[in-house]
Amino acid sequence: SRSASSLQQACLDTIRSDEDDADINWDDLGFGLVPTDYMYVMRCARDEKFSSGVLNRYGNIELSPSSGVLNYGQGLFEGLKAYRKVDDGGFLLFRPEENARRMQMGAERMCMPSPSVEQFIHAIKETIFANKRWVPPQGKGSLYIRPLLIGSGPVLGLAPAPDYMFLVYAAPVGTYFKEGLAPINLVIDNNTHRATPGGTGGVKTITNYAPVLKAQTRAKAKGFTDVIYLDSIKKKYLEEASSCNLFIVKNDVISTPVTMGTILPGITRKSIIEIARDYGYKVEEQLVSVEDLMDADEVFCTGTAVVVAPVGSITYQGQRFEYKTGDATVTRKLYDILTAIQMGRVEDEKRWTLEI
Ligand code: COI
Repeated sequence: SRSASSLQQACLDTIRSDEDDADINWDDLGFGLVPTDYMYVMRCARDEKFSSGVLNRYGNIELSPSSGVLNYGQGLFEGLKAYRKVDDGGFLLFRPEENARRMQMGAERMCMPSPSVEQFIHAIKETIFANKRWVPPQGKGSLYIRPLLIGSGPVLGLAPAPDYMFLVYAAPVGTYFKEGLAPINLVIDNNTHRATPGGTGGVKTITNYAPVLKAQTRAKAKGFTDVIYLDSIKKKYLEEASSCNLFIVKNDVISTPVTMGTILPGITRKSIIEIARDYGYKVEEQLVSVEDLMDADEVFCTGTAVVVAPVGSITYQGQRFEYKTGDATVTRKLYDILTAIQMGRVEDEKRWTLEI
């Protein structure tokens, strides 16, 4: 409840250093891990429901060597950002109930109990309040919040774990890619596929991410920012990049790969589709082929971490395709509209932000 949480807050305030005290250069934020003060932990057994959680000091957690998450990858994660409001010291969250619902859908797929939407949002708020000195000043970045849901109990044979842990930690972040807000350069890897029909590409399981590290590392060694993966059946339709969804713009028509179970249904993706339609663009969710990419005017990526990132070039089988970037692009316009809502610089007509 709010009063219990205020009490907890008061206790925390007495042992925590001053708000101005975060030992960090706000001008130097990227997307590396900056450890913060507290994390939220809530546990439950397989056949139970989550009930209440606690704030612990941020630090290592103890897990059985035979925990479900360590042995069989029974785990999900989420990502959301809190922005500092200038005027009243509050914070803005962007559509946190969408993250909560996505975690619930993922938990169903991965045979895990999940927190309710209210429990999820409560945990997010507690984590932000307890780490508020780590929320960057306006214009310098955001507090990235990382909820995890893991099978923490022991198993040996393959089975759902007997116990689960919902954990939320946070870290201050700036831009995701080393390019900052500058255009990124992607490469299509047609040997690596991140998902397959019937698999888990459409949920945010931790097991979707390590399998692309090899392709990502190879691409970075060649100077690319990241990798685009194609569908695993026809090997010609775009799915997504390692950490974000994809959009193309051609003659002011915007297209994005339709999500049919192999592509993560991004919350930024969904919001950009809606914003673009509101501003009169035609937006198609459809199959987008490599050929479509070759004659696109603009390409951009979306994601919570990435926000809206302009793509300067895509290389496919040794051929490099270049795209329009800069101020006079649809990409920039959508970036500006989305971030103005997220940072509270315009009235939030859609009621997407939650002020805390
Ligand atoms: C996010 O955009 O929040 C994600 O979870 C992607 C992650 C690979 C950084």
